[in-house]
Amino acid sequence: MKAHVPVLLDEVIQALAPKRGGRYIDGTVGAGGHAKALLDASAPDGKLLGLDGDAEALRLARETLAPFGERAILVRSNFTQLKTVAAEWDWMPCDGALLDFGLSSMQLANPARGFSFTSDTLDMRMDDRTAVTAADIVNEWDEAELADLIYEYGEERAARKIARVICEQRPFHSAQTLADAIQGAVGRHGKIHPATRTFQALRLAVNHELENVAAVLPQLTEVVGSGGRVALITFHSLEDRIVKNFFKQNAQWRNLTKHPIQPTYQQTRENPRARSAKLRVAERV
Ligand SMILES: C[S@@+](CC[C@H](N)C(=O)[O-])C[C@H]1O[C@@H](n2cnc3c(N)ncnc32)[C@H](O)[C@@H]1O
Repeated sequence: MKAHVPVLLDEVIQALAPKRGGRYIDGTVGAGGHAKALLDASAPDGKLLGLDGDAEALRLARETLAPFGERAILVRSNFTQLKTVAAEWDWMPCDGALLDFGLSSMQLANPARGFSFTSDTLDMRMDDRTAVTAADIVNEWDEAELADLIYEYGEERAARKIARVICEQRPFHSAQTLADAIQGAVGRHGKIHPATRTFQALRLAVNHELENVAAVLPQLTEVVGSGGRVALITFHSLEDRIVKNFFKQNAQWRNLTKHPIQPTYQQTRENPRARSAKLRVAERV
């Protein structure tokens, strides 16, 4: 399976400026790529509290971070519980936090997870303890609800047409047949798969991704101490808007990135997943 390449790694470390003895939080620890760099940069005694909702991601993070011993604490939790977890581990106030939203390459590449167009399942849950899968939405929601979802969360102009075709051809049990049906409905123009926006909408709904981003931001204000920084990486405009507005509207944060930091051409060539990444950094005042 493809290893996950951390996005904007040097930029994140520069932004958070980890120091010896500092305490950091990675709310989306994934395979532990950013976390490892944070621990290296805060050697010999900086510490990291890492969260992820995905059991497989945590297993990988445990392997990657094992050499750091007790400097790394890993907890399976949704980052919407950030404040509770930080309080449990006596991690408040901390010196900085990272949230690298979205999917890891391992999740995307695993056909059993149903995230990619060729998957033979239609699941899309990042945390398999949650109840609703993409198949539940596709097979049970009525046409108008599906059209609204695909329009709002996918920003897909052909949402009505796609919703109609889904309702005519369902039930769907694999991402592949769903992607094929959408391609059949709207045709294929250019390199981007015509189901991309619909898949984004389903994933956002299954995992409550936008609600989760909105829920975690105010918790950062309580968890990060004065002078501490946060680095937030988003992968699409809906998410980025929530982050941007939060920093704009909250005087407790000084925005350090008037324009978000984006990968260079070379970085996206080496790591295509980075293509749409935007990094915003703010400091707690
Ligand atoms: C882009 S990956 C992070 C990769 C990581 N920075 C690295 O370097 O390996 C995002 C991770 O966040 C996790 N995740 C997404 N939403 C989450 C949530 N609400 N709570 C906890 N973890 C979440 C996913 O399971 C995934 O492992």
